[in-house]
Amino acid sequence: MHYSDLHPSQRILMGPGPSDVHPKVLQAMATPMIGHLDPEFVQVMDEIKAMARQTFLTQNELTFVVSAPGSAGMETVLVNLLEPGDEAIICIHGVFGLRLADIAERCGAKVTRVSAPWGEPIDPTQVQEALARTNPKLLAIVHAETSTGVLQPLTEISKMVHAAGALLVVDAVTSLAGTELRVDDWGIDAIYSGTQKCLSAPPGLSPVSFGPRAVEVLNNRKTKVQSWFLDLTLVQNYWAGAQRTYHHTAPVSAMFALREAYRLVLAEGLEQRWQRHHRNHLLLKEGLEAMGFTFLVAEEFRLPMLNAVKVPAGVDDAAVRSALLTEYTIEIGAGLGQFAGKVWRIGLMGESSTPAHVEKLLSALSKIL
Ligand SMILES: Cc1ncc(COP(=O)(O)O)c(C=O)c1O
Repeated sequence: MHYSDLHPSQRILMGPGPSDVHPKVLQAMATPMIGHLDPEFVQVMDEIKAMARQTFLTQNELTFVVSAPGSAGMETVLVNLLEPGDEAIICIHGVFGLRLADIAERCGAKVTRVSAPWGEPIDPTQVQEALARTNPKLLAIVHAETSTGVLQPLTEISKMVHAAGALLVVDAVTSLAGTELRVDDWGIDAIYSGTQKCLSAPPGLSPVSFGPRAVEVLNNRKTKVQSWFLDLTLVQNYWAGAQRTYHHTAPVSAMFALREAYRLVLAEGLEQRWQRHHRNHLLLKEGLEAMGFTFLVAEEFRLPMLNAVKVPAGVDDAAVRSALLTEYTIEIGAGLGQFAGKVWRIGLMGESSTPAHVEKLLSALSKIL
């Protein structure tokens, strides 16, 4: 069997991630390999840690990047904070809340679910009720639900969770660097994200951060963390600068790429980046609405980087997405779960959040439909 050289097509990435990657990030990924214990790589890891803190807007000492995708960040947070028999409240308003609940149960936790209809945010009143009738160690919630396009307000829920003496765990895989997110100001105790959305780095890494209250919980564990790879007591020594001890072999090239992506985010400025995502969302909204599209989510809870719109009646969902990809090289996302065939998820994330992307998609859609 003959295998030819690899030549994947060029795409315009406007789905739920990965997003387009800046050429400088691709270049960083293709720089020569160095050892993961090389002093120069130790410096790169230190810089990544510092930039992870800057983008999360946190002073948390325990901030680093898990060598695996967003789901591993999710698992890192839960396997380290939960022990068998603990109670946990998991908020579910889409696919990723369901995943959180599944992982929490695998940790042996007794899970109380607070749910909202898909397309709506979690209602704080229901959170309050759940906090009153349980004794949870933590409450976990998705900030930007990529499966539905909902932006979940967090500050009111954060106050309730802390008044009940629990930890607030937040999924920021899609929100980080695309909309306002303030880990310290909002009292987030543990957070994880991903690299392939608004950071516009290649997929496969997960920035995480743990605040002082979460670290205390960690230090008071009675049982060993069941995952060796994700056990923070071991991993944190690997990220401990000059005193670093071997834990696993870091994905060097992916880290180089992430360093460059972080550098570009900070050069743009976090607030400017949030504003850019908002502006391009409005541009897309205007164009889509002029074509007769309607959004799934109420205006005040819409994500700027993930636009969930209803597939118009009589339109063949799969045929249109396929035409976009093959004739216009544009990828958009299909609906997930109960929205399969009914919703399109249009991403404007990181490098893909530009007026030119919006124009290309609107023009292609107007020709296809
Ligand atoms: C909100 C959210 N959480 C978690 C994940 C899981 O991340 P990954 O696919 O990188 O494992 C995703 C991925 O799309 C996501 O959108």
